[in-house]
Formats: sequence, structure tokens, C-alpha cells
Amino acid sequence: MGRLAKAESRYDALMRLALERGFFQPSSEIYGDAPAGFWDYGPLGAALKRRFIELWRRELVRRDGMLEIDGAQVLSRSVFVASGHLESFVDPIARCGRCKAIYRVDKLIEEKTGIHVPERASLEEMERIVREHDVRCQRCGGELTEFSHFNMMFRLGIGVGGGEAYLRPETCQSIFIDFPRLYRTMRRKLPIGIAQVGKSFRNEISPRQGLLRMREFYQAEIEVFFNPNRVNDLPRARPLMGYKLRLQPEGREEPMMITCREAIDRGLVSSELVAYYLALIQQFYEKAGIPLERIRLRQLGEDEKAFYAVEAWDLEVETSLGWVELVACNNRGAHDLGGHQRVSGQEMVVMDGDEKVLPHVFELSLGIDRSLYCILENALDERGGKPVLRLRPQLAPIQAAVLPLLSREPLTTKAKEIYEMLRMDFDVEYDESGSIGRRYVRQDEVGTPYCITIDHQTIEDGTVTIRERDTMTQIRVKSEQLPQILREMLT
Ligand code: GLY
Repeated sequence: MGRLAKAESRYDALMRLALERGFFQPSSEIYGDAPAGFWDYGPLGAALKRRFIELWRRELVRRDGMLEIDGAQVLSRSVFVASGHLESFVDPIARCGRCKAIYRVDKLIEEKTGIHVPERASLEEMERIVREHDVRCQRCGGELTEFSHFNMMFRLGIGVGGGEAYLRPETCQSIFIDFPRLYRTMRRKLPIGIAQVGKSFRNEISPRQGLLRMREFYQAEIEVFFNPNRVNDLPRARPLMGYKLRLQPEGREEPMMITCREAIDRGLVSSELVAYYLALIQQFYEKAGIPLERIRLRQLGEDEKAFYAVEAWDLEVETSLGWVELVACNNRGAHDLGGHQRVSGQEMVVMDGDEKVLPHVFELSLGIDRSLYCILENALDERGGKPVLRLRPQLAPIQAAVLPLLSREPLTTKAKEIYEMLRMDFDVEYDESGSIGRRYVRQDEVGTPYCITIDHQTIEDGTVTIRERDTMTQIRVKSEQLPQILREMLT
């Protein structure tokens, strides 16, 4: 990124752009007591998010014939007894005996000693490492004490009586508890994909890096319910078996390109079903503009997997901050339906042909906010010392800008007419202030793929120019053809 990269880090450049141009900003920012880890999307960020979700719907939900639901964010205590979150969704913490600062102790150990602390390491084990390596409070050098587990769910008191409930820490729990009714009413056969976009909440001990670790965040989750005896019997997976995954199996330092078929035959991926969904999610991020060489599907080892996963792959994207996990691709086995069946007493077993089966679940759990960060960071470029956001046209918040060449009549009236013609069907912006060159730069900076310019020739023959952001080439078209042309260019 040339000059920008030298002057400031890509992260800082993007955060500045986000704040100055209405992508996102810290929530409650005018108050001194604003809690960390909460962000608001401005108009451009909200539009980018909408388009990203639409692309996800197109490339995954609709393509695979999934169902989409919209569940409540507050769920009962029983849900999280059954899911295991009350017991297991915890981070290890320790307190400084002197200044009382609280630390996520596994991360502190890693930072100070380079020792990787396994996900399921006991508190005793962590305390032993802390003592052995003399890991101390970063603030005052005090000794760490009070090793304990901190549950990351936000607990709520419902109504006057304060009945115990929780903000969901993952959207998928409503998919699991709704499954029996959805299965009955929607008349589908296994495997069934059920999707949901919505907010989740985690009381992170140290939220940081803007959209990368938040306490309130958007997920787009897909839970595929399948018969564990028929994981290699999925006709719609067949066309993708020759597709190459960028796979990094456990124990390898680098990713490798390998077809789905070969990955299954070599025992790297457990089934056609898993390989197929890994292929879909990799293709999705390529379509969102992330180059393949910055994507990897990394297999998690026993010590990294979530407590409910039997097989886990993270789709990660390389950024200036290192590799960032965007999608947890988890084979959750029968953990969820089994748990809810046990605690609720509601039968979750279904018929698959003649077979009675408790479906297993494979999930693609996608973090929307961090995906947007990675897409933006990847798109950030510069031309002549000025930022250009090279977003895919399908994702651009402003789809086209309508610009009179000069801020003069009759150009402005004509330009406003064209803007009025387009604004109900497209996200367009009208701008007449400053030189045309400066207006192009302003649009390039926020990733607007097309600028429609109204000049003297427009008044004579009704044609306008369309300038393309990346190549800066211009074509001249009849203004009445604009809706059709834009639609094609934005698909
Ligand atoms: N549903 C998996 C996750 O939220 O990480």
C-alpha cells in the first residue's frame, strides 16, 4: 500500500478511514465511561454489512437450499445447561494480589513465556506455569492470585422477579431448539441447512482491535443437520469434489492446495459433507474479494477445539495483524441435539428413509464484523498518494455517484434528474461540491465502483460517462440505459 503503509499501519489507516467516512465508530463514544468492545456501524458500514450478508445468502443459503430463521437473543438458563455453556464457556482468570488487576491468565502466560496453554488446561496447571516462570502483574509486578474461571455469558434478570436468562453467546442455539418444529413444519429431508444472522454477546475479558474482538457482535451461522451414516452420500457435493481447498491439516506449518476428493481419500477431511461445506465457504470469501493466497482452512488440534467440537477447521484470512479466524467450521456431532433432548425431554430423533436417527450437526459459524474488517483491510490501496478502496462492486456501500462535471446549470438540474431516477433502486450519492477530480478521489476512498458524470454533451445528446474506479476508464452511455447497465455491473 505504498505511502500509506509507511506513514501508518494498515490497521491505523483503516480505522482512520472508518471513523472519518462513516463505516464504524466506538459506541457511546461521547461518554467517558463507554465500555470497550461495543461498536456502531455508520451508514457506509451498515450498507457494507447488508451487502455482505446478501452475498452470504446468495452463495450459501440460497445456493444450498437452506432455511433461514431469526431467533430471540435472550434465551433461558436451561438452554445453556443443555448446550454446556454454563459449565464450559469460561476463560481462566487470575487477579493481581497487589493492584487487583485481572488477567486472562492463559493469554498472559503465552505473551510472557511463549508457552501455548491448551484450551482445556486446568487452573492448577496454569498456576504452576505462572509460579515456575515468575509471570507477574503487567502493571505493578505483583503476584498473581485467585485463579478461577470466568463465564463469558451476559446474565440477565428478566422482569420484576429477575428470572435468570442469558444473552446468547452464539446464534445457533435457537436453531437447535427450534429444530424439532422446523423439521415437522418445513417438510425437508436430511441433510438440512438452517441459517441465521444476528447478534451474539460475549463478556470478553479484554476486547481489542476494533471489530476483531467485540462483546456484542454479528454472526452468520449455518447449522447443517445430517445423518452420520450418510456423510458420503450427498449428490450436491459431487460437482465440488474436484475443487481445490487451501487446507492446513493439523501438524503442518503451511497450507496446501488439495482437491476435496484427495483430502477425503487421504483421511485429512472426514467426509464428502465436510469437504463440500469447506469448499463453499472458501469460494464465498474469494467472491467477497479475499485472494486465495490469503485464505487458509486450518485444522484445530485437540487443545484448540471448542468444547462441543469433534472436528474443527477455522477459515482464516491473513491481515496486517496476522491470521484472523473468520469462520469456525465445526463438526459438533450429536452434542447439541443430544443435550437439548436430554434436558428438555423433547425428542430430537427423526426419520431418514427407514432409519431413525439423532442428527449430527456441521456448522459454518461466521463472524460478520471481523469479516468486514478483513475485507476492508484487503481492499485498502492507494493511487497517487490517495486511498482507494478496491471493494468488489457487489459489496460497495455506495454503488454509484452522480456528479455534474461543473456545479452549474443546466448540468446540476440534469444530474439531479438522473440521481432521482436511480435512487430508489440503487444506493447512489449526488455530489456537486469541489473539482471533479476531488470528487472522484472522495468516491474512490469509500470504494464507490462507478461515477456517473453529467457534462455538456449530456445536455446535447442525453449521454453520460461512467468512470470505473479501478481502471479509471470511462464509457459513454445513454442515460436511460443506466438502471439496466448498473444492475449488470453490480451483479
Ligand atoms: N457457534 C460457534 C461459535 O459461535 O463459535
